[in-house]
Amino acid sequence: MAIDPKALRRALGSFMTGVTVVTSRDPESHVPVGFTANSFTSLSLDPPLILVCLGCNANLYTVFERASGFAVNILSAHQREISNRFASPVEDRFAELNWSSSALNNPLIDDTSAWFDCTFERRFVAGDHMVMIGEVQDFHSSDHPGLGYARGSYFNEQLEKQALDAVSSQGMIRAGAVVEYQGTLLLLDQGSTIPSSAPKETALEAMNDLRHCLDSLGITGELGWLYAVQQEGGQQINSMYFHVSAAAVPEAFLQDARLVPMQDIDFSRFNSFERGVLERYVREHARGRFGIYFGSEETGDVAMR
Ligand SMILES: Cc1cc2nc3c(=O)[nH]c(=O)nc-3n(C[C@H](O)[C@H](O)[C@H](O)COP(=O)(O)O)c2cc1C
Repeated sequence: MAIDPKALRRALGSFMTGVTVVTSRDPESHVPVGFTANSFTSLSLDPPLILVCLGCNANLYTVFERASGFAVNILSAHQREISNRFASPVEDRFAELNWSSSALNNPLIDDTSAWFDCTFERRFVAGDHMVMIGEVQDFHSSDHPGLGYARGSYFNEQLEKQALDAVSSQGMIRAGAVVEYQGTLLLLDQGSTIPSSAPKETALEAMNDLRHCLDSLGITGELGWLYAVQQEGGQQINSMYFHVSAAAVPEAFLQDARLVPMQDIDFSRFNSFERGVLERYVREHARGRFGIYFGSEETGDVAMR
């Protein structure tokens, strides 16, 4: 079978991971260096070994090829900016970052979930990555919950559990989906609603009903992260909204008006509840950062993810 690299990357991305920043120092200049990695794995308890992979084309490849050791910083839920910074070509990734040096002189970032200070046990190239195996010389773990990553998005496990608890507290539950396909949103009933379930007794039933609804529309793509949780005013119906990044849509949707570019959505056609969900979605999409709304239709807080 011919392997399509894009499809392979997408399939591998369904494996949920945490996010780490792997740090070291340039052996000559001693300048601190680091890159974001989710290929981290625990390898052995006795001896204590961990593993992480670095792409052969990475700028830092020659540094890690020669370094005597490295530290793995497991990022906590509020550190997604740090993850983005250590994955981007910024001049000084350590600027304005609180960090200190480990006993092995590797940079340790403050307020992480855990860190592991390692000497190199061995390193070798496999395919297009260098496998770096570290022997743990020192480590620390904290109470900070970890940052999660799956299918190209960060998630915050604690926040999502909190959202599920809030929605499950009392009353019926409805699940809805903001379905995005290449910069357009899927709108139903001539652009006045979005796919949603009937009110159900439990969150699981509501999600299953929503899945059936999406299946019947021919929408493929995972039900992504939990997007918004609100109580619909007075009706004792809690709502949970998900984002679906549709991998494909039926051919017919491309011809009729069901896929609406975000800038063309007529928000006045929606009930006030769905309008709130959609307006926030479009706003946060423009900013590239999404949150979960907790509260009622009138008041609430957005917890950034
Ligand atoms: C969540 C996330 C996980 C990543 N995991 C890895 C990884 O395991 N190995 C890797 O080589 N690059 C990974 N990257 C990409 C690198 O962080 C990125 O290419 C970085 O720019 C490499 O730095 P450099 O080119 O300055 O060496 C990841 C990026 C993100 C956002």
